Amino acid sequence: MAAVSVFYVTTPIYYPNADPHLGHAYTTVYADILARYHRLRGDETFFLTGTDEHGLKLQRTAEKRGVHPKEFVDEMAEKYKGYWRLLDISYDRFIRTTDPDHEEVVKWALEELYRKGLIYKARYSGWYCVDCEKFYSEGEYEVVEGKPHCPIHKKPLEWLEEDSYYFRLSEFKDYLVGVLKGDTVYPRQYALEVLGKIEKEGLLDVSIARPKSRVWWGIPLPWDQEYTTYVWFDALLNYLTGAGILREPARFKRLWPAAHHVIGKDILWFHTAIWFSMLHALEIPPPRRVLVHAFLINRGLKMGKSAGNVVRIEDLLERYQGSDGLRYIIARLFNLHKDIEVSTSLFDSIYNGDLADNYGNLARRVGTLAKRKLDGKVGGDSIDEDLHEAIIKTHMAYEEAMQSYEVSRAVEAVMDLLRRANAYMNESKPWEKQEPVRELYTVLEAVRAATIMLHPVIPKATTKLAEAFGFQLDYNTITEPLQEYNIREAPILFKKIK
Ligand code: ME8
Ligand code: MG
Repeated sequence: MAAVSVFYVTTPIYYPNADPHLGHAYTTVYADILARYHRLRGDETFFLTGTDEHGLKLQRTAEKRGVHPKEFVDEMAEKYKGYWRLLDISYDRFIRTTDPDHEEVVKWALEELYRKGLIYKARYSGWYCVDCEKFYSEGEYEVVEGKPHCPIHKKPLEWLEEDSYYFRLSEFKDYLVGVLKGDTVYPRQYALEVLGKIEKEGLLDVSIARPKSRVWWGIPLPWDQEYTTYVWFDALLNYLTGAGILREPARFKRLWPAAHHVIGKDILWFHTAIWFSMLHALEIPPPRRVLVHAFLINRGLKMGKSAGNVVRIEDLLERYQGSDGLRYIIARLFNLHKDIEVSTSLFDSIYNGDLADNYGNLARRVGTLAKRKLDGKVGGDSIDEDLHEAIIKTHMAYEEAMQSYEVSRAVEAVMDLLRRANAYMNESKPWEKQEPVRELYTVLEAVRAATIMLHPVIPKATTKLAEAFGFQLDYNTITEPLQEYNIREAPILFKKIK
């Protein structure tokens, strides 16, 4: 029996201090496409997302609203789930850092490191950004009117000075450099960035606790109740909790070697230097991959709440008439390497050009003709050789791109195939023929292959079309000719935006 491949994919767990926006959807939809693609191939797939609920940022947001943080995050976690439902996000677990099994893992990890002498107490001082939940050193922060500012959020930093507990990150330098030289971080440019930073600044020990008097909303240190766990130390461990490290060790053993963390480049340092060291200290190997993507930019700045330039998910769902349109736009734009500037005219042209015209209109035309000319029954006696070959080549290109995590490239390969099928339709003019079996069958085969390959991206429209045209969304049949189509209707899949 062939071994089943395993695929474990995670998103960052988002701070639920505000509703998610297009930036969060960007990461989450991408991870969902990878998860759906692997499920479609028959891989054992586990998709984890959730919310990062402790720390000063959440404590302050709840204080401002005059509610207990737990009450606030309970409400917000439901809101996140609601957004992900609207976007057809097929997560297997929605993890919250307030979940009991997670608190158990955090306490276990702290105790392990403490026991190994990797945690010590010392006085701490530095400039802190609450939005990042992170200290910035000289050279990292920006100076505006003589005052240190966060380079990401452009807000003044806060000076902090207190006793704290440190994790001996500096001990892991050689180990880290070794991992960063391997293929864990993808694309490699980001590994080089971290290596450069380590070379330039060295690796300093990191504070992993906060005095309870200042940050009481967090997991208490098992050996000192006057301190809570630093929110990032807490949050990173969610990836172990989600895979079942303590409660389901057999499942954890299967999933962990297949772990893929999808993250934005803003949290690269945490997911490499700090995370790989924490794991090594716990005697756990690094994840299979950290997949890092660049930013969505709006009016020149990284889209974000503090920049005040967020694009709302609900507005896009309305404009593009549901989840598929927005999911497709994200897939087409998605870029691991470069920042992408958002624009309504760009989004509209992707939606109209690719979905309404290239895919939707072709499906509608071929379905309508099949019904009119052949009563909806199109048997596969013969097929145009060139187009058949194009289907096989497209499938190979798609597979190669998906295995390299390049979703936009995979989608573009499918669009190329559909453009060829449109051209073939226009040249072979099936509407002029009495019984255009070969012509319609050829186009249907291209549409069917495209539909299966697009299924992870636009699950609703592809399910609808497969039902209307009478074929299965079975990944193994993409290049296997279908005996006969039985077309019941020719739906309009995407209405064009004027
Ligand atoms: O950092 N462009 O949570 P967060 C692209 N809780 N991606 C964007 C984006 C943009 N303009 N804006 C947000 C945290 N994102 C921590 C994570 S994980 C153990 C803890 C996405 O709510 C991107 O994935 O600030 C980024 O890394 C993430 O949202 C940050 O979400
Ligand atoms: Mg952030």
